[in-house]
Amino acid sequence: MAEGDSSQLRPQFGNRLLTDPDKVFEHNAWDRVEWDADQEKVAEQAVKHNSSVFLPSDKNVEYEVNAGDYWDSFYMQHQNRFFKDRHWLFTEFPELLGTQVSCDHPSSHTNDTGDHGNYGGHENKHAQCATFRIFEVGCGAGNCVFPILQTSSYKELFIYCCDFAPSAVSIVKDNKMYDPSKCHVFLCDITDTPMPLPPPNSVDIVILIFVLSAISPHKMVSAVANLVAALKPGGLLLFRDYGCYDMAQLRFKPGKCLEKNFYVRGDGTRVYFFTKEEVSELFQKAGLKEEQLFVDRRLQVNRGKQLKMYRIWIQAKYRKPLLPSTS
Ligand SMILES: C[S@@+](CC[C@H](N)C(=O)[O-])C[C@H]1O[C@@H](n2cnc3c(N)ncnc32)[C@H](O)[C@@H]1O
Repeated sequence: MAEGDSSQLRPQFGNRLLTDPDKVFEHNAWDRVEWDADQEKVAEQAVKHNSSVFLPSDKNVEYEVNAGDYWDSFYMQHQNRFFKDRHWLFTEFPELLGTQVSCDHPSSHTNDTGDHGNYGGHENKHAQCATFRIFEVGCGAGNCVFPILQTSSYKELFIYCCDFAPSAVSIVKDNKMYDPSKCHVFLCDITDTPMPLPPPNSVDIVILIFVLSAISPHKMVSAVANLVAALKPGGLLLFRDYGCYDMAQLRFKPGKCLEKNFYVRGDGTRVYFFTKEEVSELFQKAGLKEEQLFVDRRLQVNRGKQLKMYRIWIQAKYRKPLLPSTS
C-alpha cells in the first residue's frame, strides 16, 4: 500500500525513461512505462480471475458500516510508521508551494467569497484570519499536512485536515509540528453531508491523496459534492490515487473483490482502482473544470531482489468555476 516513496524533494514524475531494457536495474524507478498488448492482456486476465466471484452482500455491508473502525485499527497498529511523507507533492502540485506570483494563485483572481462572516458552524479564528486555506481530507497520520506546513511559503496559510479514524486524528494532534494556529485536524466522514467544517466556499485548495479509493464507489459522488462545496469559486482540487491494473490490484487473490475494481485488504480496509474516464466523469459532473488528468505508469524496481513492480496511478487537477455552471 506504500505508494509515495520519496524522502527528498524529487524531480517531477515522468522524467526518467527506460530506453534500454538491460539497464532496468540501474535505477529504482522508471517513468512513462509503455505496456505492450501482452502485458495488458496478462493484467486483464489477473483482474478477471481475482474478481470472478464477489464477496456476499452482507460482507460488503459489514465492511461499509465498519469502514472507520478498520482504518482506526490500522492506525492503532501502525501509528505514523506506515506511510512516508509525501514530499513529491510539491513537484507534482507546485500550487502548494506558494512561490508562484500572486496572479497564479489558485483562487487569487476571486475575492475572498468564503462564508466566514456568517457561517453557522464553529469556524476556527485562525482560519478566519488566514489568507490561504488548504483542506486535506483523509489526512491519515499527517504525511501531507506536515510537509506542507514545513515547506509552503504562503504567508498566512491555514490547513484544515480531517479523517474518519479517531486514532489518525490523535496521531496528527500529537505530532510536535502540530500548531493549532496554523492547522486544525478534526474527525469527519467526508461522505456525510453536511460536513462540520470548513465553511462553504472557503478553501483555496482541497487535497485528495489516496483517499477516494478507500470509499465505496456508491458514496464517491456525495463525498466529491462535499469537497466542491468547501472550495472557493476559482479554487483547486488536487487528486492522486490508484489506477486500474496497478500492481496492488493484480496481487489480490480471489475472494477479496467486493464489486468491480473494489477490493478488501486483509486488514478490512478497502481500495478502489480508477480508470481515467471515471475520474474525469466524477469530478466534471460535480461541476469542476479539468485542468490536468493523466495516468502515471511507473516501473519501480527492487534492485536487491531484482523485482519489477508496475505501478499505475491517476493524477488530476480540477478547478471550481468562478460562476456556477448553468447547464
Ligand atoms: C490510504 S490512506 C491515505 C492517507 C493520506 N491521505 C496520505 O496520503 O498519507 C486513506 C485515508 O483515508 C481515510 N478515509 C477513508 N475513508 C474516509 C472517509 N469516508 N472520511 C474521512 N476519511 C476517510 C482513512 O482513514 C485513511 O487515513
